[in-house]
Amino acid sequence: MTVTHDEKVVREFSKQAAAFADPGVNAAFTRHLDRLVRFMEPELDLEDVTLEVAAGTALVSRAVARRVRHVTALDLTPAMLAQGKRDADAEGVTNVTFTRGDAADLPYLDRSFTLVVTRFSLHQVADPAAVVREMTRVGRPGAALIIADLVRPAGLDGDPDRIERLRDPSHGTLRTEEEIAGLVAAAGAEVKRTDRFDHVRPLEAWLALAQTPDEAAAQIRKELTAELDGGPATGMRPVLQDGELHFTHTNFFLQAIVG
Ligand SMILES: C[S@@+](CC[C@H](N)C(=O)[O-])C[C@H]1O[C@@H](n2cnc3c(N)ncnc32)[C@H](O)[C@@H]1O
Repeated sequence: MTVTHDEKVVREFSKQAAAFADPGVNAAFTRHLDRLVRFMEPELDLEDVTLEVAAGTALVSRAVARRVRHVTALDLTPAMLAQGKRDADAEGVTNVTFTRGDAADLPYLDRSFTLVVTRFSLHQVADPAAVVREMTRVGRPGAALIIADLVRPAGLDGDPDRIERLRDPSHGTLRTEEEIAGLVAAAGAEVKRTDRFDHVRPLEAWLALAQTPDEAAAQIRKELTAELDGGPATGMRPVLQDGELHFTHTNFFLQAIVG
């Protein structure tokens, strides 16, 4: 039986949901949250009616909830939404509503939101162009669109998507900054600001978060170690820090205005 991409997403993120609330392995999702909130700062308004697309456990929604009127956190995976709702309740956050839905087919009328955000989703979804079109469609004219994602740096050697899929079969494709900006422009929004930075991450926490099967995890360790020893480039840019295997992700933030 063929498993669709969205079925893979729900299967993988149902396994990962609890880990998103576990400080032992979720650092990649919390460490640069402040930087994203600072990037969003000029766009935040207490009157904002906000949508977070592919929100997962709504870490971003919860980080901005007190700065806006309301946030709808939409995701495909019920277990991620349920974990996020428990976390929001525990934090006393009352203006985030959790909704199951498809980012590529948003269940909202045109021009419904004044701020639309998504993080770590375009590399995950089957059709990133459709997601960006939908985010733009549901934004009011003048609404801010915020996209934060992992990107493939220009000139990178190797095939990082292959390693990412070994770790998590629901991984889609890393895009370049230019490709993401192109999707935004094609959807009719105007890019205003961007930010980019590298994040060196411990390999073991990354594998633990996804509960990568032992065999695949061993293969990833082997390929990254071989690259450090002068072998072929994996595209993961491995480094040793304090004797521990790490790798490098490039984060990209983009702010645009819906036309
Ligand atoms: C890497 S997680 C990121 C979660 C959250 N955005 C964050 O940054 O903490 C990717 C999320 O995208 C969701 N997702 C993937 N495809 C989706 C789709 N077509 N519609 C809605 N959510 C989707 C998954 O269920 C998962 O929660």
